[in-house]
Amino acid sequence: MIMLGIETSCDETAAAIAEGKGKNVKILSNVVSSQIEIHKKYGGVVPEVAAREHVLNILSVVDSALEKSGKKKIDAISVTIGPGLITSLVVGIETAKVLAYARKLPVIGINHIEGHVYANFINRKKDVEFPAMILTVSGGHTMLVLMRGHGRYKTIGETRDDAAGEAFDKAAKLMGIGYPGGPAIAAQAEKFQTTNKFEIRNSKIVLPRPMINSGDFDFSFSGLKTALFYELKKDKNWKKRIPEYCYEFQQAAVDTLVFKTIKAAEKYKAKTVMLAGGVAANTELRKQLEKAVKEKLKAAFVMPDLIYTTDNAAMVAAAGYFRALKKNFTPWEKLKVDCNLELK
Ligand code: KG4
Ligand code: ZN
Repeated sequence: MIMLGIETSCDETAAAIAEGKGKNVKILSNVVSSQIEIHKKYGGVVPEVAAREHVLNILSVVDSALEKSGKKKIDAISVTIGPGLITSLVVGIETAKVLAYARKLPVIGINHIEGHVYANFINRKKDVEFPAMILTVSGGHTMLVLMRGHGRYKTIGETRDDAAGEAFDKAAKLMGIGYPGGPAIAAQAEKFQTTNKFEIRNSKIVLPRPMINSGDFDFSFSGLKTALFYELKKDKNWKKRIPEYCYEFQQAAVDTLVFKTIKAAEKYKAKTVMLAGGVAANTELRKQLEKAVKEKLKAAFVMPDLIYTTDNAAMVAAAGYFRALKKNFTPWEKLKVDCNLELK
């Protein structure tokens, strides 16, 4: 089956073509037109600007995905319907609807978080073993999701305030080191790690690991950002110590995320642990979660290739393909934005 995926939930206009056979999904093309450079000057995504950019780019992005795939015919279309920015989502959805109507193709509305989860199913030789525990960490969400089978989810914990990626973005803004904050903090932290191996052991900066001992699977990241704010305020020399602050901030987030994921996987006897969402691009999170799974669990560890961690349409096409296998199509007239869509 040849599936076109479309993703416009935030600030990336994306289209991809996936080829599915049995439980295997191969990506034939993956086009992402990023608006990062445009939103950078505002320090965050401006919804109206994002929507306009999607309108300007969507057709050429879809054309380019089709052309690069080498396929003339597609069998179905998957599109993100939420959660996300309403005016951005609507551009992808209307495009999918028109194409589906004109070509008489089935359409599938995809939850953006489910898309991130399915980044883990791209280019796999065999299916993952269920139940799987998925740490979903993006700019808008931080959740621990128990996946009992394809399309079967239960959210067992989530953030009570900021998402992990949002915390990285806000912390980077506090230190004035750029947007998006995740990669900026990771780069500074790496600078500290590679040049100051000795000082890491003697670092005086200590940030909290919020809710690490709460006994549940929820998270909280806004306090971590506030703690960083007060540490910076106390320190006259903070500008010279940015790499060290970034190192500790990143480690505090990673410690909490890894600890709770392992606890959740133990409790629900997960056979696989997976990582999903934009923050899954974080090298330390990838490394430290993999190590903890190997040391503490008998479960397999799966993570998406780096190119499929941040928003893209390949993950949407992959999620759509697995829904199509179960004939789980969305009636054309019911395909619409759902900003509060839950993962179920
Ligand atoms: O999944 P995504 O592309 O968009 C949403 O669905 O929100 O995630 C974007 C988030 C941003 O907050 C960004 O700072 C974060 O992912 N991110 C990272 C890294 N790369 C992107 N966070 C930590 N380390 C990274 N290397
Ligand atoms: Zn996302």
